[in-house]
Amino acid sequence: MTEIRTPRLLLRRWYDDDLAPMADINADPRVMRWVDDGSVLGLDATAEAIEGWEDTWDDEGFGLFAVELLASGELAGFTGLFVPDFLPEAASEVAIGWRLGPAFWGQGYASEAAHATLEFAVQDRNLDRVVSINRVGDTASENIARKLGMTREREAEDPRYGFPLHVHAIDLTEFQA
Ligand SMILES: CC(C)(COP(=O)(O)OP(=O)(O)OC[C@H]1O[C@@H](n2cnc3c(N)ncnc32)[C@H](O)[C@@H]1OP(=O)(O)O)[C@@H](O)C(=O)NCCC(=O)NCCS
Repeated sequence: MTEIRTPRLLLRRWYDDDLAPMADINADPRVMRWVDDGSVLGLDATAEAIEGWEDTWDDEGFGLFAVELLASGELAGFTGLFVPDFLPEAASEVAIGWRLGPAFWGQGYASEAAHATLEFAVQDRNLDRVVSINRVGDTASENIARKLGMTREREAEDPRYGFPLHVHAIDLTEFQA
């Protein structure tokens, strides 16, 4: 069972009880503003997504962690690793991603979870490189990438929607946990 504790968070696999709070997060247009084409997701789509995230854990040995607040037990959202196969030029990479409910923004939780995810990537999974792919304009994500020590490598275009993307990367052989 893969679990990580940080000072304020528990990063863990997904439980059935996570569906309702994660669906609320996915149904919020403020959350989905920079995700894919900005469409919100309903309950069924969220259930399907969580199933897919769990499959990735089983298949790849990494995935998106459910991020729980230690103090309250609330689900804040997710942070973790995935294969960014929506972008063919990066389909052989491992990417880091994050999505929290607005109640959990502005408190450093995403950065705390992302830092622990990079530690997991290098210490548990022996990965030597992780990328972060965000839409141009998604300054909150660029801020996290910068704080993690990732550097912007290039621009790309989302082949699904035509949006410009920024690709950041970090050499984990140089990562200071
Ligand atoms: C992207 C997202 C995760 C960023 O969340 P966030 O809360 O802004 O990110 P951080 O964890 O870096 O916290 C930001 C601020 O919290 C503040 N903060 C408050 N308490 C803090 C603490 N104890 N430690 C660190 N920072 C703290 C800091 O001021 C920090 O801002 P700064 O880096 O400018 O100093 C969030 O906006 C989100 O989920 N958006 C919707 C989904 C999305 O767009 N995902 C990416 C695209 S796919």
